[in-house]
This record gives sequence, structure tokens and C-alpha cells, in this order.
Amino acid sequence: MSDAHGTHEGLAAEAARLDAADGLRAHRAAFDLDDGVVYLDGNSLGALPRAVAPRLADVVNRQWGRLLIRSWEESGWWTAPERVGDRIGRLVGAAPGQVVVGDSTSVNVFKAVVAAVRMAGDGRDEILVDAATFPTDGYIAASAARLTGCRIRAVPAPDLAAAAGPRTAVALVNHVDYRTGRLHDLPGTTAALHGAGALAVWDLCHSAGALPVGLDEHGVDLAVGCTYKYLNGGPGAPAYLYVRRDHQDRFDSPLPGWNSHADPFGLDPAYTPADGPARGRTGTPDILSLLALDAALDVWDDVSLDAVRAKSLALTDFFLRCVAALVPAGRVESVTPAAHAERGGQVSLRCPTGAAAVMAALAERGVVGDHRRPDVLRFGFAPLYTTFAGAERAARTLAEVL
Ligand SMILES: Cc1ncc(COP(=O)(O)O)c(C=O)c1O
Repeated sequence: MSDAHGTHEGLAAEAARLDAADGLRAHRAAFDLDDGVVYLDGNSLGALPRAVAPRLADVVNRQWGRLLIRSWEESGWWTAPERVGDRIGRLVGAAPGQVVVGDSTSVNVFKAVVAAVRMAGDGRDEILVDAATFPTDGYIAASAARLTGCRIRAVPAPDLAAAAGPRTAVALVNHVDYRTGRLHDLPGTTAALHGAGALAVWDLCHSAGALPVGLDEHGVDLAVGCTYKYLNGGPGAPAYLYVRRDHQDRFDSPLPGWNSHADPFGLDPAYTPADGPARGRTGTPDILSLLALDAALDVWDDVSLDAVRAKSLALTDFFLRCVAALVPAGRVESVTPAAHAERGGQVSLRCPTGAAAVMAALAERGVVGDHRRPDVLRFGFAPLYTTFAGAERAARTLAEVL
């Protein structure tokens, strides 16, 4: 489709103007990207920051190869989970001393939900879970319920605030829905849960690095998230756990491994929990992945999350406009909310016919997103390295494929 001014040409020219005016554009150079590919899957596996390979080479060759066991102290390995945790804390609005990095998101969901039930106290025997949650959270919350003698109730995230009652211990909510890209109301839901005397555990996998989260500002109790999406930590990078400072003394981990002991090298048969975020640790940290993540986080040093959010919304607005202008009517329908207040960092298009084949054809033409069964095409817009020209090319290629 091309109108008199050339819809393609008009949108391409607009993309070029938007890219030229983009205050974050210099950050793209910090990533090792193939310029022939439009990578729109950073909401699943973030791109590779250039700083990672040389840092890991040093960690492997010098810290491990030469210093060997001395590196636990001399290279700061032992304290890395909290040090890197503070770097993530800045990105999710947590003051230092509340985030620890380690384990997977799934494991941290388990720790957070069980600890929240223990904190909620007697008479509170209900766990609420976001009905459209990423499945791991649902599976783990159900297991946590069985272990703690709670019942579990699945409730759509927007209804959680009204659903919490005097028996609710905790609600586990995804900040951004992985399938639709819908952003849930973290401040309002957290406040309503607190009003009912319950705790809020937020899963930040799809919001950290895409928008400001404000954990401290909104009084979130506990939060978890992965680091391999917008934070670019690499495949299988360790996850993180946030425990609000005034809850830390009452945080009773269901996985009290020796690394969370107050004196791990005392090797005491009796367990005494560490103070602070280290209480959320389990076993020996995964140092290679953790330090790859540490290097990956360098790209965020001078980045404001407000600027990231502004670009993210501009990118997704522009992509939606390109799709509306270029793709034949009726072939796809956005399931991502149009309202900025309800939109995360991705656009999900329902494609009733042949969604898997469409995504495969896009990939063959150098546009990489992903497909979620049965009929959702997901396009993630990581603001540090996605361009408006890439968004335009993705929509144009989608139109060609369809
Ligand atoms: C919202 C959400 N929670 C949890 C997970 C799974 O995390 P992990 O594999 O680190 O346990 C994912 C993975 O994509 C996710 O999107």
C-alpha cells in the first residue's frame, strides 16, 4: 500500500526523523547487533552488550584461571549477589540493600510467596494469583499453597484489588502480561492489597528495563524478576529477589541454604539467617553468569528510566501506526492496550491465520519476534537498541508476508 506521499516512504522518512531525534540512539553502539536484522525479541532474550565478552574473558582467564580460590575475596565474587543486586535496584526503584541476585525467577517466586505467607500470619490462608500469569508463577504458587496449607485462587490482575479479603495472605502478580503486553496497575493494586492486610509480590520479568517500576515508592513488599530480557544478562542469567527493607528481619526463607547464613563459613549445624538481602540467597552464586550480567548492566549507567519509557511508548505507538497503515485490514489485531498507562514494552498482534508460519517467514526476511501459541505474534521493543527504522521495516515486512 502506498499513497500519494508514499505511505512507505512517508513512514520511512518519519522513522529517520525520529531516529535522528532519539536521545538514546548512542546506546545502540554498546550492543553487538547484526545491522541486517531487526531484533524484536529483547523481551525474551536481550541483545549482547559489547562489554560482556572481554569482561568474561578476564573473569575466566585471570580471576578463575590465575587467582583461583582467591577470587572469592580479591575479585569480589562473594559479595557480587548484593553488589549486582544494588545495580538492578536502581533500575526498579529500590534503594541499595534490598535486592539480591541469584537462582531463577521460578525459585525466587517460591521463596517470595512462601515467605509472604509466613509474614502474613495466622488466619490468612489464601494466595491469590494473576489468572493470566506466566505459567511458572502459577505452578509454583500452587505448590507453595499446598506446602503452607493455603488455598489458591486465580483472579484476573485488574480484579485482584477487589478480590483480596481478610483471609488473603498474598497476591502474586505479573507487572506486564507476557502474552498481551498489558501493564498492570502496580501502585493501585499494591495499595488495595495492603488495605486488605495482604502482601504484594510482583513479577517484574517484563517490566524491568522497559519502564520505571518504583518498588520503594509504591511500598511493594516483595518482587522477583529475570535479567535475560530487557536487562540483557544473557541466556539463563540469574534472577533477583527484592525484599523491602522493613520486611527483611521477618523474611523467613523456605530455602535457607548455607549462603544465606549469618556466618556461612562458621559451618554451624544450626541456622542463623543473615541480615539484609543476603537472607534471600540460597547456595553458591553462579559467578560466570552473574559477572556477565554485571558487565551487561554497564550500558544502563547513565540511562534514565523515564527516557527509556518515553522511547518505548514512542516506538510501540509508531509500530502500531505502521501496522495500521501498511498491513491489509483484518489480517492482524493488536491485543496490546492502546492506552499508555496499560501498555508495557511489547506489541502483541493476534494473527488468526498461520501465526507460526508468519513469524517464521518474518525471521527469514530478517525480522525476529516470536510466536506464542495459538495465534499471538509478539514484538518486543528494547529501547536501548531498537530503532524507529527497525519498527517501520518490521511492519512493512509483516505486510509483505501477510
Ligand atoms: C513473567 C515471567 N515469569 C517467570 C519467567 C520464568 O523465569 P525463570 O525461567 O527464570 O524461572 C518468565 C520467563 O519468560 C516470565 O516471562
